[in-house]
Amino acid sequence: MLPLKMKLFILFFFIFATIIVVFYGNSYILTAYQHSFFYRNTSLCACDKCLMEYDPWLSELMEASPEPFLSVTNYMSEDIFNWWKRIQRDKRNYTFYNKTVDKIFHIFPPNVGFTRPSPDLCRTCAVVGNSGNLMGSFYGPLIDFHDIVIRMNRGPTKGFERDVGTKTTHHVMYPHSSTNLDNTTYLVLFPFKTYDLEWLIQSFTQRYVLCKVNTSVMILSPAFMKYVHHVWLKRKGKYPSTGFMTLILSLHMCDEVTIFGFGADSGGSWSHYFEIFRNKKFKTGAHPGAEEYKMIEKLHKKKTIVFFKGW
Ligand SMILES: *[C@@H]1O[C@H](CO)[C@@H](O)[C@H](O)[C@H]1NC(C)=O
Ligand SMILES: *[C@@H]1O[C@H](CO)[C@@H](O)[C@H](O)[C@H]1NC(C)=O
Ligand SMILES: *[C@@H]1O[C@H](CO)[C@@H](O)[C@H](O)[C@H]1NC(C)=O
Ligand SMILES: *[C@@H]1O[C@H](CO)[C@@H](O)[C@H](O)[C@H]1NC(C)=O
Ligand SMILES: *[C@@H]1O[C@H](CO)[C@@H](O)[C@H](O)[C@H]1NC(C)=O
Repeated sequence: MLPLKMKLFILFFFIFATIIVVFYGNSYILTAYQHSFFYRNTSLCACDKCLMEYDPWLSELMEASPEPFLSVTNYMSEDIFNWWKRIQRDKRNYTFYNKTVDKIFHIFPPNVGFTRPSPDLCRTCAVVGNSGNLMGSFYGPLIDFHDIVIRMNRGPTKGFERDVGTKTTHHVMYPHSSTNLDNTTYLVLFPFKTYDLEWLIQSFTQRYVLCKVNTSVMILSPAFMKYVHHVWLKRKGKYPSTGFMTLILSLHMCDEVTIFGFGADSGGSWSHYFEIFRNKKFKTGAHPGAEEYKMIEKLHKKKTIVFFKGW
């Protein structure tokens, strides 16, 4: 027989141990519950699988993002302006930029070309790049099946419907790559300098211009460009490509992202589906192409996006 003191000691030991287990166990479960509650509330959508479902790596990247579009309440700070000025060596100053943006908001009424995430929305998106790997892909109907179809630069549909589809809800452009849009398509302007914003005003107000802007306009915030360059690409290269910025932008506009026409074609050439380059060694210029491609592959592997690689 154990002495009474010993029995009491054992008894108290067990009570103490139970309290510890219950207390810590509970608080652990509680945190996990709060976590799922938090992410459920902020990110759940009506698709089978939402892009923003709990993923610490992606959440951290997304949370660092500024508001993606310029608006009357989202002006560019002088800090960002100075970063932005360096990428294209624009001589115009901040005051001039400010005035230009003011004019734009007078001409183009503020509008929201995208919806915020909501538990009763499933926003499916196709982001269509211009890679030659779309040639002969027969992706057209699949692309058109998405709610939002984002195309970029000169990327035409006429004559290429079988491989790239017909629908365009958003068309990303900068002045040098502009094409005429019909009035059901949002023009998403990627401004690389103040001149690009002046161009927008001219193309609207002047009679004889190559490209007539007669649609709703959304202007990507230069703060967002800096964010993509610094946070997603760790400052590699001079600045991100239009395709890569569009992809990151789509993560904000959609719950499901499928990308088409990214990367090189099967011959390793960075050609376009609508033109044949003679120079097979055509590279990606100032953009960190390899870094961007690695990130796209990573997003695909993590099943954040679906990547159709063409043929
Ligand atoms: C979370 O969702 C509930 C129910 O949909 C809502 O009442 C509540 O306001 C939401 N909380 C936050 C912080 O969004
Ligand atoms: C900004 O540029 C405009 C002309 O483009 C000039 O009139 C103005 O003085 C400049 N402002 C500053 C602060 O340098
Ligand atoms: C530019 O516009 C913003 C927002 O209206 C304002 O806060 C800022 O002082 C302006 N800066 C200049 C130099 O005009
Ligand atoms: C778009 O343009 C067509 C003619 O090109 C016109 O019939 C239609 O009403 C326009 N739609 C809107 C929303 O402006
Ligand atoms: C611009 O679109 C409006 C309707 O959306 C139409 O009334 C107008 O004629 C169009 N202008 C040009 C130049 O296409």
